[in-house]
Amino acid sequence: MANGKPAEDKTFVRGLEGVVAAETNISWVDGIHGKLYYWGYDIHDIAEKVTFEEVIYLLWNGRFPNRTEWETLRRELASEMRLPSQVVDLLKLMPPNAHPMQVLQTAVAMLGVFDPDSGISGPEANLRKAKRLVAQVPTIIADLHRIRKGLPLISADPQLGISDNFLYMLRGAPPEEIEHTVMDLIMVLHTDHGLNASTFAGRVIASTLSDMHAALAGAIGALKGPLHGGANQKVMEMILQIGKVDMVQDYIAGMLDNRRKIMGFGHRVYRTEDPRARHLRKYSEMLCEMRGFRELYDISHKVETLVREQKGIYPNVDFYSATVQHAMGIPADFFTAVFAASRTAGWVAHIMEQYADNRLIRPTSKYTAELGIPFTPMDKRS
Ligand SMILES: CC(C)(COP(=O)(O)OP(=O)(O)OC[C@H]1O[C@@H](n2cnc3c(N)ncnc32)[C@H](O)[C@@H]1OP(=O)(O)O)[C@@H](O)C(=O)NCCC(=O)NCCS
Repeated sequence: MANGKPAEDKTFVRGLEGVVAAETNISWVDGIHGKLYYWGYDIHDIAEKVTFEEVIYLLWNGRFPNRTEWETLRRELASEMRLPSQVVDLLKLMPPNAHPMQVLQTAVAMLGVFDPDSGISGPEANLRKAKRLVAQVPTIIADLHRIRKGLPLISADPQLGISDNFLYMLRGAPPEEIEHTVMDLIMVLHTDHGLNASTFAGRVIASTLSDMHAALAGAIGALKGPLHGGANQKVMEMILQIGKVDMVQDYIAGMLDNRRKIMGFGHRVYRTEDPRARHLRKYSEMLCEMRGFRELYDISHKVETLVREQKGIYPNVDFYSATVQHAMGIPADFFTAVFAASRTAGWVAHIMEQYADNRLIRPTSKYTAELGIPFTPMDKRS
């Protein structure tokens, strides 16, 4: 005993860095070599070659679908994109300055109340819920955007996949060919990423045998923070604030001199470049050029060069996804919600994996205050 506390033979790992807290088949981040695998497939081998629906099928089944399976899933998802009218009413009730991630979290929790399988928790019911969530989250984002703009809502087109439907419902016109490619790539690249903070949050909630919508709402809350998915919005704000390539040097020097973090850089696991950044960098340059704001890409590239040189850290997924989404006409405060729309497929995969072999996730803590303090009744306290 020390200071009245029992000596505990336990190691405290700040931020759980390096702690193995789950077994999973779904994805693996090899931080040393800068590799990301979805169920064994290297992301570089499948990015730009597979659709979002193929990746969803892979994460949920451990193999890619054949054409019939792919068409069936695509059709099922497109048919589930409609929201209950009560959830649309909720979106209309939200204050116009509420952050889209706050609204998304609230709407997903509400979807749990109206889900036809609410209160049912077997594997078949959970798969049906998973499909509805993957289909409905993009609709929440698109509908919220149009409600804020005072525009009429657009129903999903059953012929389109999720990514095209998202852009169609958001902007009111089917995407151009390049947008079709890039939106699906964004969805594919963000689908899963090991035991990141939001996935862990979702698995912790699922491990209590709480329902899938509750676990997803918790995961969305974790993704919202600027140290996680919220970084992409901050990156765009930074690039627009810098404004000119000539201003990059002073801006970065000012940030680093003051030990401030540059959003979209660094990673808990990667010790080299985030493999997703390579694909997004390419399309950031292409789209910024096409849209007539090449300088936004040039600013980003100069920020990357200086931060690499001066801090030895690399861009993560959020850095170039910012300018890519901007070039697709997505408002910056919706960037993290788009990330969530993709990651929903990964989150539900992890939640189902957790249910399939569950043990309550309940770590312990290292108690650091005193023990055995004598109690003083209120009228005797100074
Ligand atoms: C992602 C992140 C939270 C990982 O954090 P972590 O593993 O806890 O690493 P730390 O925050 O302890 O950083 C380790 C060192 O790198 C520095 N560093 C990490 N990310 C940095 C960044 N984006 N800008 C400047 N310095 C950074 C830290 O200041 C620290 O330096 P020090 O040892 O001299 O104090 C962190 O890199 C970060 O905050 N990045 C910006 C937010 C972001 O882009 N998040 C999206 C992640 S996908």
